[in-house]
Amino acid sequence: MHTAPNSIVVLTGAGISAESGIETFRAADGLWANHPVEEVASPQGFKRNPQLVYEFYNQRRRQLMSEEIRPNPAHSALAKFEHDFAGSFLLVTQNIDNLHERAGSENLLHMHGELLKMRCQNSQMVFDISEDFSFDTPCRCCHSPGNLRPHIVWFGEMPMHMNRINEALERCDLFVAIGTSGNVYPAAGFYQTARVNSAQTVELNLDKTGSGFDQHIYGKATEIVPAYFAKLLL
Ligand code: APR
Repeated sequence: MHTAPNSIVVLTGAGISAESGIETFRAADGLWANHPVEEVASPQGFKRNPQLVYEFYNQRRRQLMSEEIRPNPAHSALAKFEHDFAGSFLLVTQNIDNLHERAGSENLLHMHGELLKMRCQNSQMVFDISEDFSFDTPCRCCHSPGNLRPHIVWFGEMPMHMNRINEALERCDLFVAIGTSGNVYPAAGFYQTARVNSAQTVELNLDKTGSGFDQHIYGKATEIVPAYFAKLLL
């Protein structure tokens, strides 16, 4: 950075939670290698085989609720930075886990939904859920079974909070993407939106992604994220 930033947007992806023990999507042994996307992460797949989709997210939820899964130093560094930084800070995550909030992040938007929430397909009401649920679970608002679905954005659906995200991107002067492969839009295009205001764009990732950021820093999130954000405060 030439001058200290005033307004920062950070985007995170599966790579920030990898060292907490949650699989990424596109690694050779990642989630999408074992579970075809169209079966477990599309409205059509849910219509065809709801049981399979409920079970897929029940498994992910059980894993997230287990004692082994905890926020790592990268999540904590972002929460500490938000607390110490005097300017405006928005954290946008594509992740459906709750590790950012458990680390203490506050100004946080889950653009792809949340594993610990379910939604009534009739009323669109959203409810907290930390256990399994399925087709047979009676809805808390309409009290009949069959209406609840995971509060997750599937392929072909509109990501959440896009107005707030775009507004923040258009006025930020630093955009940082962490642990995301840049395969899924609109998140993959955020660094271009940030350039509307000539923001500096930085990628922190384990490997090269092919996206055209101004600066690339490669390494494990638990190492490069704390180091990068500690320097920004100097
Ligand atoms: N530290 C930093 N980066 C890492 C680490 C790590 N320890 N481990 C993996 N990565 C990087 C990988 O190199 C890869 O570039 O994180 C990225 C993860 O990419 P994906 O698996 O594609 O995950 P993500 O970009 O979050 O996926 C976006 O796609 O499947 C949908 O809705 C799902 O939100 C998800 C979206």
